[in-house]
Amino acid sequence: MTLNSKGLALILALIIAVTTTTALYLTPNVPDRAIFLTFILSFISGFSTIRVMVELLFFKEINNIYKALENVQDQKLASITQTKKSYFNPLKKINQEISSYANRKQNEIDELKKMAAFRREFIADVSHELKTPIFSAQGFVHTLLDGAIDNEAVRENFLKKAAKSLDRLDILVQDLMTITQIEKGEINMDFESFNLVGLSAEVMDQLEKKAHQKQVKIQLFNSLDHPIYVSADYRRIYQVILNLLANAINYAGIGAEVIIKITTSAKKIIFELRDNGVGIPEKDLSRIFERFYRVDKSRSQQTGGSGLGLSIVKHIIESHQSKINVESNSKKGTKFWFLLKASAPPKSETKTTISTK
Ligand SMILES: Nc1ncnc2c1ncn2[C@@H]1O[C@H](COP(=O)(O)OP(=O)(O)OP(=O)(O)O)[C@@H](O)[C@H]1O
Ligand SMILES: [Mg+2]
Repeated sequence: MTLNSKGLALILALIIAVTTTTALYLTPNVPDRAIFLTFILSFISGFSTIRVMVELLFFKEINNIYKALENVQDQKLASITQTKKSYFNPLKKINQEISSYANRKQNEIDELKKMAAFRREFIADVSHELKTPIFSAQGFVHTLLDGAIDNEAVRENFLKKAAKSLDRLDILVQDLMTITQIEKGEINMDFESFNLVGLSAEVMDQLEKKAHQKQVKIQLFNSLDHPIYVSADYRRIYQVILNLLANAINYAGIGAEVIIKITTSAKKIIFELRDNGVGIPEKDLSRIFERFYRVDKSRSQQTGGSGLGLSIVKHIIESHQSKINVESNSKKGTKFWFLLKASAPPKSETKTTISTK
């Protein structure tokens, strides 16, 4: 036999009414009407009070706990609702414990699901990107082995093309390793004081040939005679500027102009690289820092990009407690900028300056 709150209240109210009425009955000179009225009133008030109390304190909470446990069993953790805190009702407290446990577990499950989806997508992207240079190198090598090796002109041409594909593969693997290491927190930034103007000029020198091929004109707004010092990781910032400048050369378009400008603001140094090229459509702007994201896949295929460059830039700049910003417009072109911490010249350079004066 199962007892619900109504049954329990009925029994208890009856006991109270009978006890009160018996006590009155045994008292001399109490009229029958009063005894009857007392019975009715004590039964009704007892029943309603006990019903409300039992329902509120006991059965409702037990039902909630039961429902929550059923949901845990069926792994429907999201449907368990959080109850308000109660310090008085122990059953309510148990219910709270169950719902907060279920919520924690649901968050863990959601996180794991997200990670699994992310891993699947990442593996698919990586395999796709690796396939292109591998197939290309494989094609040239097999054609050579099938006889083309005997033709001197073809041999050199195909070997060069195979080597280019393998170089691309090497860059891709290095980029992937960089991203993975930074994300796993395995790379510690090696902060030092260096001249950002000098570093920018070095990157420009490295990409000079490429810029010339694309007829892109690069200008450094700052004078090399006025060094601007930052506290940052030299190698990583070199990579950031290299990626940004390579992009401007690759995507701004033939004959575009690129300007690098470094300015000082309070204790921060602002690095800015702008081009007057084709720009990046607004719908893509928020996504270009995602790994493997390319605006125009066919165009990037010609230039050999895999969509990792800006993702690396974002990671490195964020590891410097800063943020990479972009602004783009099809008429004006694209501008990337970020802030770094200003620094005093390194000790060795201070000494050199003093000694040359
Ligand atoms: N200055 C720019 N002008 C126009 N489009 C740009 C510019 N910089 C980046 N993009 C667009 O953003 C995309 C993402 O750039 P990102 O550097 O991440 O990848 P990628 O250059 O394609 O490949 P990777 O850098 O890995 O070789 C590019 O494919 C390009 O479409
Ligand atoms: Mg790039």
